[in-house]
Amino acid sequence: MKPLKGLILSGGKGTRLRPITHTSAKQLVPVANRPVLFYGIDAMAQAGISEIGIIIAPETGEEIKEVAGDGSQFGVKITYILQDEPAGLAHAVLTAEPFLGDSPFVMYLGDNLLQGGIDDLVAKFKQGEPDALILLTPVPDPEHFGVAELDGERVVALAEKPPEPKTNLALVGVYMFMPLIHDAARAIEPSPRGELEITDAIQYLVDNDKRVEPHIVQGWWKDTGRLDDMLEANRLILDRMESRVEGSLDSESAVEGRVVIEGGATLTRATVRGPAIIGKGATLTDCYIGPYTAIGEDCAVERAEVEHSILLAGSSVRGLDGRMEASLLGRNVHIARSVGQPKAYRFMVGDNSDIGIL
Ligand code: DAU
Repeated sequence: MKPLKGLILSGGKGTRLRPITHTSAKQLVPVANRPVLFYGIDAMAQAGISEIGIIIAPETGEEIKEVAGDGSQFGVKITYILQDEPAGLAHAVLTAEPFLGDSPFVMYLGDNLLQGGIDDLVAKFKQGEPDALILLTPVPDPEHFGVAELDGERVVALAEKPPEPKTNLALVGVYMFMPLIHDAARAIEPSPRGELEITDAIQYLVDNDKRVEPHIVQGWWKDTGRLDDMLEANRLILDRMESRVEGSLDSESAVEGRVVIEGGATLTRATVRGPAIIGKGATLTDCYIGPYTAIGEDCAVERAEVEHSILLAGSSVRGLDGRMEASLLGRNVHIARSVGQPKAYRFMVGDNSDIGIL
């Protein structure tokens, strides 16, 4: 088999996580302070894939290029491929055809997180050489995903977000394909939601007696498109991180459990109870940071308690009476006790936000 190439889909529109992804791609939302997209690139690099194409959209592509660069930070070569409109996952494959040529490839959805990498899957694909290898996992809400029906080790039918799913086996956003998938993507028609669906392209392979093999995912998997999923993904990644303290702590600060304190972070009378990560240049003063929290670069937490939350770069929380929990703050969000009159709550919040007050 020719060497595998990698294709990561980071186009589309980040509509579900607004306002967090209003100005940036949903694939760049950090999980444990790293863009979710980086975990997919890592997984490919780890599996020995050195040529990776990244699908980008006109609105968010530049930002993605800026953070992922030429791939040297991951030890791979990245080629950016512009998809003019989010016309579907199979459309993205066709857009990448000049890059992919006749190579077999791994396709990874840029907003998906898969535990345990893809080494085993790549090995299984190379060994069996099926026309497609799809990853499946049981979920409680299959109507939100592509859904597969199996007959033993054979995939017999697939449906994209069916209102009445026949099984609970969701298609995970990692796929392996032989170049034949390009013909399948050309043969299908747009779905009711107006997209060329990869699910339909795979169904086309099934209908034409090609070999489509299932692989049931054993570890966890997250499609990080929603807030709860983001918090959960954060929790899962923080849980297996290795402790590392590079920032500075005064004698009254304490760090307990699995904690990363990046260089340039400063702790003054602060307690951090892991799993947690504190980004570069963050300042923690007279505060408590509890388990499952990711504090982004240059954030400040002062006279406050924060737990099970994500603060994106440049945000601050100051002088809260109660503990902040299960929260996600976008970039440069500032929460502070106001001084002076009138004594009132004061908010300046973007569209589609949620605020809970004591
Ligand atoms: O997450 C798994 C699910 O992903 C599968 O179960 C579904 O079968 C599959 O269709 C897909 O469903 P979503 O509706 O969640 O896909 P979404 O539109 O969120 O796009 C997934 C990624 O691909 C995301 O990073 C954006 C990118 N994308 C999307 C489209 C439609 C592109 O790069 N180009 C596109 O045209």
